[in-house]
Amino acid sequence: MTDIDIVLVGRLVPSAEAALDRAFTVHRLRDIANREEWLAEHAPIVRGVAVANGLPVDAAFVGALPNLEIVAGFGVGYDNIDARAAARRRVVVTNTPDVLTDEVADLAVGLLLATIRQIPQADRYLRAGKWLEKPFPFTATLRGRTVGIFGLGRIGLAIAERLAAFGVTILYHNRQPRTDVPFRYVDSLKGLAGEADVLIVATPGGEGTRHAVDAEVLAALGSDGVLVNIGRGSVVDEVALIAALEQGAILSAGLDVFADEPRVPQALIDLDRAVLLPHVGSASVHTRDAMGQLVVDNLQSWFAGKGPLTPVPETPVPPKS
Ligand code: NAP
Ligand code: 8YV
Repeated sequence: MTDIDIVLVGRLVPSAEAALDRAFTVHRLRDIANREEWLAEHAPIVRGVAVANGLPVDAAFVGALPNLEIVAGFGVGYDNIDARAAARRRVVVTNTPDVLTDEVADLAVGLLLATIRQIPQADRYLRAGKWLEKPFPFTATLRGRTVGIFGLGRIGLAIAERLAAFGVTILYHNRQPRTDVPFRYVDSLKGLAGEADVLIVATPGGEGTRHAVDAEVLAALGSDGVLVNIGRGSVVDEVALIAALEQGAILSAGLDVFADEPRVPQALIDLDRAVLLPHVGSASVHTRDAMGQLVVDNLQSWFAGKGPLTPVPETPVPPKS
C-alpha cells in the first residue's frame, strides 16, 4: 500500500486486485454503502480510478473527483468510460489492447463454426437421446463462403488471418481502408453485407456504430447469411435481428455480446438457430490475468511519472514511444 489513493469500480481478477493492494491505497466502490456521502468526504484524495466489468465511468463521476489524473479501464473497449469528458479535464484514460486479441479472435472463429455447423445444437441433441432415434440433420457449411469483417482492427485482423486458413474469401469495412492488409475493402457496411454471406462484427461500441447492423444490412446479408457479433451488442439492432431470424431473412447468428448485458431477450433465447455466449471473448484465466496486469501497469507507470502505457486516442497525453 502507498499514499496514492485510487477507487476501484467493480471487481477485477484476483491477481490484479492483489497487485493494486500492494501498490496503492484502494477504495472499493463495491464496499462503500453511500457513494455520495463517501465522495463528499473523500473525493479530493482520489488520484486514480480502475474500472472493471464495463461499468460506467461517466462525466459526472469524473467531474466529482477534482484531483483525478487517470482512469484505467479493464478491456480494450472503453465505451463505458466517457473518454471525451475525461480529456476535457486532462484526465488520462487507458484500456487493455493487444493482450486479448488472439483470445477473442480464437473465440470468434469457434463461434462462427459453432453457429454454421450447429455444434451446441448437436451436443444438446445427443444429450437428449435423440441420436438413438435418428442422425442429427445436415447443417449449413463454411465451404465456399465470403466473410465480411466489420471492423478490421486488431481483433478483426486476427480473425481474418485465422479464417484465411479456412479457404474463405475475406472482405472488410472500416471508416478508412487499410494499406497494410491483403483483404479487399468495401466502402459501406451495406455493400459489405451484400457481397458477403457471413458478417462478423468486431468494431467498438458507442454512438459511431450504434445499430449500424440494422434491418437493411441484415436483408443485404441474405437468407443464407450468418451474423457473428463479438464487438458490442449496441452495434446490432437486436429487434431487427430477432425479426430477421424469425422471418428467415438471415440463416443464423452467433452472439457473444448483447445490447443490455447480462439480460438477453427471451426471443433470442427461444431461437434454436442462434448460438448465444455470455460475453466470454477474452474470458480465459490467462488472458483476464494479462488484462488485469495491464490495468495495474498503466496505473504504476503513470504514478511513477513514466506516462500511460496504453492510452486511448482521446486521451490528452501522447502515447509513449
Ligand atoms: P481496434 O483495433 O481499435 O479496431 C476497431 C476497428 O473498428 C478499426 O478497424 C476501426 O477502423 C473500426 N471502426 C471503428 N469505428 C468504426 C465505424 N464507426 N465504422 C466502421 N468501422 C469502425 O479495436 P480492437 O482491439 O480490434 O477491439 C475491437 C472491439 O472488440 C472493442 O472495442 C470491443 O468493443 C470488442 N471486444 C469484444 C470482446 C469480447 O469479449 N466479445 C473482447 C475484446 C474486445 P476505422 O477507425 O478505420 O473505422
Ligand atoms: C471484457 C471486452 O470482457 O475488452 C473488451 O472490450 O469486451 C472484454 O474483453 C470486458 O471488457 C470486461 O469488462
